[in-house]
Amino acid sequence: MNPSPGFTADERRLLTELRRDLHRHPELSWHETRTQEKLERALKDAGITDVRRIARTGLVVRVRGRDAKAPVIALRGDIDALPITEATGLDFSSENDGVMHACGHDVHAAWAVGAAILLARTPAAGDVLVVLQPAEEVGEGAKEVIASGALDGVRAIFGAHVDRRFEVGQVVAQEGPLAASVDTFHIVLHGEGAHGARPQEARDPIVGSAELILALQTIVSRRLDPALPGVVTVGAVHAGRASNVIPESAELTGTIRATTVASRALLVGEVERMAHAVAATHRLTVEARITDGTPPIVNPREPAAWAAQAVRDVLGENALVPLGTTNMAGEDFAFYLENIPGCFLRIGAREPGGEHRSAHTPRFYPAEDALFIGASVLAGCARAAGSPSSG
Ligand code: NI
Repeated sequence: MNPSPGFTADERRLLTELRRDLHRHPELSWHETRTQEKLERALKDAGITDVRRIARTGLVVRVRGRDAKAPVIALRGDIDALPITEATGLDFSSENDGVMHACGHDVHAAWAVGAAILLARTPAAGDVLVVLQPAEEVGEGAKEVIASGALDGVRAIFGAHVDRRFEVGQVVAQEGPLAASVDTFHIVLHGEGAHGARPQEARDPIVGSAELILALQTIVSRRLDPALPGVVTVGAVHAGRASNVIPESAELTGTIRATTVASRALLVGEVERMAHAVAATHRLTVEARITDGTPPIVNPREPAAWAAQAVRDVLGENALVPLGTTNMAGEDFAFYLENIPGCFLRIGAREPGGEHRSAHTPRFYPAEDALFIGASVLAGCARAAGSPSSG
């Protein structure tokens, strides 16, 4: 396998330097100002000049195709970092205290620039919009890109994530569920406080919340189809301050994950229903607020076939690997798929013989060669989706 398909030695150097620079200077969601400038400069250095600022700290690049009437395709790379202190030991480790590219978005930004370089040299049928998207980690950037109108009228959109479960050179490009929905619940049970010695004078929100926590565990085990993945996790519980006081209220917050639109609706609905039902059992009143996060990513058939074709064209038949277990993390690329057909891929990022390291941990990093593979595969997706025979 050629680890940098399609790139000259100079381009390889430029992209490597870009990735390392971004890694050294990570910026949190909506603060990617240096990142934005650095990416603009790298694009300019590569001779790509049709670049616009969108979505506050993002960019959109238009790479001209061969035929102005051919459909426009979009590619997306996210660019933000996480509030984590780096412990990779890389010699280009973060210089921003407590901030780290722990999800590989430094590589995603660099491979988006790489895809623009490849498409500028050998244009696709139609124009390709390369989006450098801010604020993925907070689930807001994609919505802002869509609201900007920059992607109006595009035929398909592709994006990808580095993944150390797979070796460099392996790629997942398949139809169906790929990432989970992420919704947050916040429940407050209101009762009536009393002396801890006189529970008969109270309406005890602590006992109610204990029962609710257990009841919530039955949603996935008893209500969800066992063949579908789902999660209801209570992540924080707050009530009371003293051993001899029954408090007025108890608060629970947690996360709800699902991989289909229907199972998402079921889990969200059941959390709300149980909060009200258990509260009523204990004579409590309840406020149950569910904050909609990202939808699940479910890759539709045709764009997934275009992506798989691109992987075969760039890397050969053996590069395609199955996802295996669905990733229950969220990914805000899902917002694009609500509006535009497309496919989200996983790009192998473990060096041969390397160990698995989870994203969002202080020791995570993607192998550098994943950058060139991601760039080539995404450029290939734009070609496959935009070709007249793929209509
Ligand atoms: Ni990520």
